[in-house]
Amino acid sequence: MDRVVISLGGSIIIPGDRDGEFLKRFASLLRELSKERELFVVCGGGKTARTYINIGRELDGTERQLDEMGIMATRLNARLLQLALGDLAEQSVPCTVEEAASQAGRGKIVVMGGTTPGHTTDGVSASLAESVGATRIVNATSVDAVYSADPRKDSSAERYERLSFQQLKDLLGNEHGAGASGVFDPMGASIVMRCRIPVMVVAGRDLEEMSKAIQGLPIKGTVIDG
Ligand code: UTP
Repeated sequence: MDRVVISLGGSIIIPGDRDGEFLKRFASLLRELSKERELFVVCGGGKTARTYINIGRELDGTERQLDEMGIMATRLNARLLQLALGDLAEQSVPCTVEEAASQAGRGKIVVMGGTTPGHTTDGVSASLAESVGATRIVNATSVDAVYSADPRKDSSAERYERLSFQQLKDLLGNEHGAGASGVFDPMGASIVMRCRIPVMVVAGRDLEEMSKAIQGLPIKGTVIDG
């Protein structure tokens, strides 16, 4: 059975706009799509993570300490999604990729958050995709595609329909900082490039787009491959 990893940005899970309703609709989409493929969801920390990281930075926390708080927020979001999925999902949040991979093949959706400091949940999703032999990663974000700059801040930002793995790496650089928000993280980009796992970047709150991406159908967002 096809395996698909979804990297679900925290900004999609709890933007503060009818979140419970969205999670219910998302859960029923996953129920439908999980009949024909095995699904893994890695949840981001969103504004909960950013709030704690920003205050922690004011209090002179180290990057490692800030990352650790970010990880806690991602696991809290993972728990929320598990609640929405009910008996469709395993009801414990794996702390490592190995633990998540060991939950595979039991007919349940596996939901996790972050693992260790030094990367984001996009990195975790790439590592999990490698570990379970996923055919693709769906990166569900708050923007609808990859752009040359943040389209919310720069109206001249170029929108990409397709990127090679190398172009993705060039776009990202190598630095990780707690709470930093690029379209994917550098560790994840290295893994998908080495393992040649396609990444589909879509607007996470657009469930039609999400559905297409999970099924591997053409999307409006960006396809990263080749
Ligand atoms: P996210 O994966 O949510 O990062 O983790 P993000 O890219 O900032 O946010 P989204 O994609 O918009 O939701 C939140 C923070 O938690 C720490 C990092 O500091 C990250 O920025 N983190 C997360 C880790 O250190 N390790 C992990 O495995 C996951």
